[in-house]
Amino acid sequence: MVDKRDFAGQVVVVVGAGNGIGRATVGLLKERGARVIAFDNNGEALKALRAEFSLDETQISTLDVSDEEQVRESIAQVLAQEKRIDALVNSAGMTGPTNRKLEEVLWSEFEKTLRVNLFGAIWLTQQVLPIMKAQKYGRIVHVTSIAGKEGNPGMAPYNTSKSGMIGFVKGIAKEVAPEGITINAVAPAVIRTPMNAETSEETLKYMIARIPMGRVGEAEEVAETICFAASRACSFTTGFTFDTSGGRATY
Ligand SMILES: NC(=O)c1ccc[n+]([C@@H]2O[C@H](COP(=O)([O-])OP(=O)(O)OC[C@H]3O[C@@H](n4cnc5c(N)ncnc54)[C@H](O)[C@@H]3O)[C@@H](O)[C@H]2O)c1
Repeated sequence: MVDKRDFAGQVVVVVGAGNGIGRATVGLLKERGARVIAFDNNGEALKALRAEFSLDETQISTLDVSDEEQVRESIAQVLAQEKRIDALVNSAGMTGPTNRKLEEVLWSEFEKTLRVNLFGAIWLTQQVLPIMKAQKYGRIVHVTSIAGKEGNPGMAPYNTSKSGMIGFVKGIAKEVAPEGITINAVAPAVIRTPMNAETSEETLKYMIARIPMGRVGEAEEVAETICFAASRACSFTTGFTFDTSGGRATY
């Protein structure tokens, strides 16, 4: 019987691949046979990724998702090189200001967080959809956050960007449902990754206290859910936000 979670013969683009959840996802995708094309704005992290997973130089490129033109060029480059894109995983993200009241947040900080987390997701989706429509197949997975469902105090830009992603995914899913394309989100609670190095102690405590499993999650645990949503096995679920929150959000 065919294992629909297998990626043999498939090209999977992973954005935000250099660290944390994206990096763990690259590992799992590779294990399951995918040809991974990895993007990140951190060139050093990409170099380390290349060494860790024995990628060749055509499989890593720098990309800043907050720049629409770069997104357009990067996806066009993948298509020229690989001739197809079976799945897109977008794990690029930034926390933005934490432990700050809304009126203390500068608009430049707010806008930057929206550009990376939300606009990046929109621009990537705009670029891969025509390719996937022509293939009559595609899987898109955006990593959002529990913050987008529940809202963490002191993190207005992040909450706004992540709930924007959830709404975006719901509507686009319905637009492309008849075309062999699914688009879903994955919403982690606090996960042990470099991203949390910047999160204040107070915010971290607040988040762990709300997780019934009483612990942070691991990047590999989130990668499992992402890989399912990025695979052929995820054939009748679209517009959904999968929860990876140790029981914090059961909806
Ligand atoms: N770690 C958590 O607790 C947690 C919880 C909920 C949601 N998330 C989300 O998961 C995703 C991955 O986070 P992570 O914890 O693995 O963080 P991370 O910082 O370990 O990895 C994020 C990656 O995205 C890259 N990146 C950042 N800005 C970028 C840009 N403008 N263009 C391209 N790449 C960029 C970074 O260089 C990094 O390699 C993010 O969207 C984050 O919001 C994380």
